[in-house]
Amino acid sequence: MNITKMNGPVYRLGVNINEKGYLFEGLWPVPNGVSINSYLVMGEKKALIDMTQETCTLMDSLAQQIEQAGISPDQLDYIIVNHMEPDHSGMLRDFAKTNKKARFICSEKAVPLLDQFCSIPADRVDSVKDGDTLDLGGGQILTFYMVPNVHWPETMATYLESEKILFSCDAFGSYGTVEDAVFDDQLSEERAVFYEEEALRYYANIVATFSLFVDKAIKKIADLEIKVIAPSHGIVWRKEPQRIINDYKRYASYANGPAEPEVCLVWASMYGNTEKAVAPLIRGIKKEGLDVKVFRVPQDDLGHILAASWRAAGLVLAMPTYEYKMFPPMAQVVEDLMIKKVKNKKVLRVGSFGWVGGAEKDFRTRTEKAGWDIMDSVEFQGCPNEENLAQVEEAAGELARRIKEFTA
Ligand code: FEO
Repeated sequence: MNITKMNGPVYRLGVNINEKGYLFEGLWPVPNGVSINSYLVMGEKKALIDMTQETCTLMDSLAQQIEQAGISPDQLDYIIVNHMEPDHSGMLRDFAKTNKKARFICSEKAVPLLDQFCSIPADRVDSVKDGDTLDLGGGQILTFYMVPNVHWPETMATYLESEKILFSCDAFGSYGTVEDAVFDDQLSEERAVFYEEEALRYYANIVATFSLFVDKAIKKIADLEIKVIAPSHGIVWRKEPQRIINDYKRYASYANGPAEPEVCLVWASMYGNTEKAVAPLIRGIKKEGLDVKVFRVPQDDLGHILAASWRAAGLVLAMPTYEYKMFPPMAQVVEDLMIKKVKNKKVLRVGSFGWVGGAEKDFRTRTEKAGWDIMDSVEFQGCPNEENLAQVEEAAGELARRIKEFTA
């Protein structure tokens, strides 16, 4: 890839990961790939902000891009380590072996991690606190802001005063590879919306659990004059930096208040009995004018289910009883919704059972602390009859009405 000249003496460097079957964090499918961005600030001293994962191809690519700026990696004076997760720090170990002079700048909490993850001892590291600055010379001063838990406790953001650029690392990031169009002003509206959708899924998969901290971080940077948001995943927002900030503000707000007036319906079926309830569920919701996103497990992936669940004010979970419990793939969905702190939802559960039930008790136990407003479930033995299906449709309509009232 080629480097991209940004404002002033700043370059955007980036690598894309889009191998088929690749799982981000070893867990999340990324059908549109993901970019990992770094930024080079060329003062009298040269600083590289964040690195990339530890694979030869990516490391070679980043090294070649540094050379495109007219310097070799050995000439870098500072490496700004905003975040120690290995998608940004994996290359540091090898880099530190060849470049012996660079200082590593990070938060206090990151100092031991640099040693443990990358064998970079504390005597090569300078820790910074909130508001500390680093003067690169030539009028280029970096200021550091601690943004703990966006995404790990040691995470910080870096601000370049001269160009009003915030290098925000995971914050304001998105999935999706980035090719020649690096900036939001180079994108069609449709493509910009694509990155916003990818940002929502990234948010739901990676930082949703820490929404309280996202909100705090946004408040912390509220007084900064920001002309450019330069995250470590996805595009650079220089035409409308506030657009992605507002998106993240809205995503974070879903943790504490109503989300959007729509429904995420997740269903599972063993022999087609619970499946028969899906059409009346959709009908009941749509009759009330709400949109519904439908997923089946285990066929559909959890990353997309989490994103739709995060954005929707209402959830429908349809599954049969399996050995006195919820159908296992759905139990996993519920477990993950709990881990990601998907709260403040209006929820309906439906499903079939064979000899006796059990899914209902299991569901109620697992969601006890979810903070969900759960309606009476609709259950049926074996194949649902007409009366059962009418009950399902009516319950879905009632759920939709409650969502409308909740989000009004
Ligand atoms: Fe992109 Fe939390 O690492």
